[in-house]
Amino acid sequence: MAKLRIAVLTGAGVSAESGLSTFRGNNGLWGEYDPQEVASIEGWYRNRPLVLGFYNQLRKQLSQVKPNAAHLAIAALEEEYDVTVITQNVDNLHERAGSSRVLHLHGEATKVRPEDGIYDRNYSCKEVIDVGYDEVNIGDLAPNGSQLRPHIVFFGEAVPNIEKAINIVQAADIMLIVGTSLNVYPAAGLYRYARNGVPVYLIDPEEVAVYDSRITHIREVATKGMETFVKMLKENS
Ligand code: OAD
Repeated sequence: MAKLRIAVLTGAGVSAESGLSTFRGNNGLWGEYDPQEVASIEGWYRNRPLVLGFYNQLRKQLSQVKPNAAHLAIAALEEEYDVTVITQNVDNLHERAGSSRVLHLHGEATKVRPEDGIYDRNYSCKEVIDVGYDEVNIGDLAPNGSQLRPHIVFFGEAVPNIEKAINIVQAADIMLIVGTSLNVYPAAGLYRYARNGVPVYLIDPEEVAVYDSRITHIREVATKGMETFVKMLKENS
């Protein structure tokens, strides 16, 4: 029998227990930094060194953290389910935990591309370079001679992978959302593409502003919430 399909949408909360800050809420990154300065397209053209510095720091931090039990539990779902992770996170912790299909909606911190890079018809940019955890500074140029920029979807830019994400959600039999405040669109609206009758689970220790009777809110941190979710799956199978 074909495996049931689970679409997993994750946000910063899934990586919180690894030691990475979330964006909003207490001690959130956007309390310390102004997203318009460090994560918007206008900010990039205004002050490239500042933006490069912000992502250099994020890359360095990423080299010092590890996937947590929630990333591992999401990867382990693949033993019994056909799982695709759609993440708003720019970290690589899902991949490092062993998830085999991960779609990054907001880009990847370990990658850069020329600032005048060209997207093909499938919205993929062939000039993306994997720099791992290395710094990228002003004067670091792509083979075409233009400045390298973070491979990040800045505020003010389109979200190239959104069509793929919608298709994944539309094909899902079960939808799981972990650790996102659902503030940033279009990612926040993705669960609405789940087919009629598809159960939607949300793991987040806080109240999240979604009002949809299909959603079962597991009000726990990601590691604990994943244990609860796996138990619920077993009970319902
Ligand atoms: P937010 O910081 O907005 O939300 C994080 C969510 O994680 C909140 O709902 C918290 O309650 C929850 N949370 C905190 N600790 C948790 C834990 N241990 N386990 C589970 N949940 C926990 O982050 P995102 O929703 O991911 O975009 O933010 C979306 C986008 O906004 C990001 O991708 C980023 C940001 O601006 C860009 O930079 C383009």
